[in-house]
Amino acid sequence: MKIIAGNWKMNGTRTTLSEMVSALQSVESENTVVLCVPYTMLGIDGGRISLGAQDVSRHTHGAFTGEVSASMIADTGAKYVIVGHSERRQYHNETNSIVREKAAAALANGLIPIICVGETMDEKQAGKTMAVIESGVRESVPNDVNTDIIIAYEPRWAIGAGLTPTEAEIAEAHTLIAKTLAEMGLGGTPVLYGASVKGSNAAEIMSIPNVDGVLVGGASLKPDDFIPIITSVK
Ligand code: PGA
Repeated sequence: MKIIAGNWKMNGTRTTLSEMVSALQSVESENTVVLCVPYTMLGIDGGRISLGAQDVSRHTHGAFTGEVSASMIADTGAKYVIVGHSERRQYHNETNSIVREKAAAALANGLIPIICVGETMDEKQAGKTMAVIESGVRESVPNDVNTDIIIAYEPRWAIGAGLTPTEAEIAEAHTLIAKTLAEMGLGGTPVLYGASVKGSNAAEIMSIPNVDGVLVGGASLKPDDFIPIITSVK
């Protein structure tokens, strides 16, 4: 069983989400399917699909105009929240330590954080991929985690670019993440791969050791693109 998570980013409407949710109800799959959508679309009945947010405030409440707390997300019935997505790191200057605070806020409110790590093209070219991934995991995961978390490895240069690392590169990254999590006492934590996943490469990517599922951006927006990913693996 794999975890197939969609990240709608700043796309869609409540109507397109309802259409997606109904299209997915009849899909035969034992995989866990999650859709992380803009806050305004949370609260609809997902049926067998779990919903999640794409970001969360690290604060609990108060004078933080425009922010949404983990308890508010949980209040909609959502179960998941993406934290530290590369677009948040890039456009909103989120560092590992901010991501860690956000993940802790999620956990404190019963949400499962999907904690993203991954290298930029500059870091890759400088030979820093493994170091960035390992410090990303060590510094972005809160201490004393005793409930579910998910890690997503997303090579930042490959997101939305139609590029994917080689199978060997994905395997190396996921092996390092699994080993790092085991050293942190978090062995068995699911690790997703994300960046330019589509129906035609999903099965191959999910056959790589230590790849427990995928985080899908563009190809999660339409049932015709998303369903083949969900059904690509048992
Ligand atoms: P992509 O996005 O599938 O469109 O590359 C992945 C992500 O940003 O989570």
